[in-house]
Amino acid sequence: MQTTLIILKPDAVQRGLMGTILNRFERKGLRIVGMKLIMVSQETATEHYAEHHGKPFYDNLIKFVTRSPVLVMAIAGIDAIAVCRRVIGSTNCRSADPGTIRGDFGMSSSFNMVHGSDSLESAKRELKLWFKDGEILDAKRTSEQWVIAESDYTRS
Ligand code: RTP
Ligand code: MG
Repeated sequence: MQTTLIILKPDAVQRGLMGTILNRFERKGLRIVGMKLIMVSQETATEHYAEHHGKPFYDNLIKFVTRSPVLVMAIAGIDAIAVCRRVIGSTNCRSADPGTIRGDFGMSSSFNMVHGSDSLESAKRELKLWFKDGEILDAKRTSEQWVIAESDYTRS
């Protein structure tokens, strides 16, 4: 069982795609265990995207994510980090596979609607950055017994 950080970026919120995108994760069988609509501070944005500091797109990226509200979510499930990255699709929406969020709803490599943690290490770091203690819940969905078999917990 893993928990990953998902952010619906300002373009997703402004375009009224929150419900549609949220639905992609919910119907997949993933569990939303934390969620909040916030304005991102300069400090949080620079810390979150520290690995991209100095890259050509960095300044515009920081301007973009601090410009308008974002929906921040913690999402849990078996292999949730990799599963969410597949649901989201590749960075450039124009080449992202149809059926992914970016492939179905976007045309940009910058305004690509969703962030998803890219590794276990990133997920741990990012969840700590975006959520305070107690903001991520341990509540289960009762329908989960029809989504995940006992054997899924032991087999990869
Ligand atoms: P994310 O971190 O947001 O989940 O996206 P990602 O892993 O698919 O892509 P990453 O390489 O980490 O880039 C972070 C975000 O920077 C913006 N970007 N713009 N104009 C460009 O060439 C460019 N490249 C990256 C995107 O918003 C990307 O999601
Ligand atoms: Mg990334």
